[in-house]
Amino acid sequence: MMKEGTGLAASEGAEKIRQLATGYIPAALLGVIIELGIPDLLAEKIKPVSELAAATHANDDALYRMLRTLSSFGIFTESSGRRFSLTAAGRYLRSDVPDSLRGYMRWVTNSFLFRNYADLMYSAQTAQPAVEHVFGKPLFSHLQTCPELSRIFNDGMTSFSQMVSTALLEAYDFSGIKVIADLGGGQGALLAAILQKYPAMHGLLLEQEYVLAGARKRFQESGLAERCGTIAVDFFQSVPTGADAYLMKSIIHDWDDHRAGIILRNCCDAL
Ligand SMILES: C[S@@+](CC[C@H](N)C(=O)[O-])C[C@H]1O[C@@H](n2cnc3c(N)ncnc32)[C@H](O)[C@@H]1O
Repeated sequence: MMKEGTGLAASEGAEKIRQLATGYIPAALLGVIIELGIPDLLAEKIKPVSELAAATHANDDALYRMLRTLSSFGIFTESSGRRFSLTAAGRYLRSDVPDSLRGYMRWVTNSFLFRNYADLMYSAQTAQPAVEHVFGKPLFSHLQTCPELSRIFNDGMTSFSQMVSTALLEAYDFSGIKVIADLGGGQGALLAAILQKYPAMHGLLLEQEYVLAGARKRFQESGLAERCGTIAVDFFQSVPTGADAYLMKSIIHDWDDHRAGIILRNCCDAL
């Protein structure tokens, strides 16, 4: 038996810790590469870094070092002459592929989140969200005042919902539900996927007013506007009646137990 702290197990443990502790480096690099639009510039092509730097107004040498680092993580392949192409993994960062992860990755690697995580000690000491300490407002109030960041967040949530909706629809049988409400349903990607699979079902998207425009556009474009209503709500105040099932995805985890309880009680009252 291997002694604790020695041999292969110990070196694997040390490597795991090193990877965890330096994980912010590839994440930050991905954020820059996505923001510059490099994966789209490399779609099906190989290009020299000088061309990529010129197209994105980046510094040639700095971009070269970043692309090389991400090559060591399997996102790009470097060829002679400082030329780069996308790997199969890097392809997911393109915006024009059907299974694109770009929207979600653009949100989770956004510098806004890095600033909040840099102040995580505040949360450890107070149990309060760092965002209120760093930006002076709760997350959703902050998003409301920053249209560009709000767009990145909502697109990120839509991309995340698209990643999980196929698995959810395979795992859960929604038949028998006449009207389903998606509470805090973002821009409606998950609700649209459910209504597309169940053509007799009607939907209600319940969201903050400023998020609803994106949802209405989606329902119009996917021919679901007749079957899906949208209502502006504050789920801490009340939840509208009228549905026989209430769905929440990525909602309860946002809140402490007290506030999560209020949302769940308001759903119970609506049923
Ligand atoms: C993490 S996102 C999840 C969005 C969507 N369910 C999804 O999974 O893609 C949380 C959502 O809750 C909404 N939200 C936050 N506070 C709310 C409130 N008081 N009333 C209604 N919706 C709220 C936000 O606008 C946001 O779309």
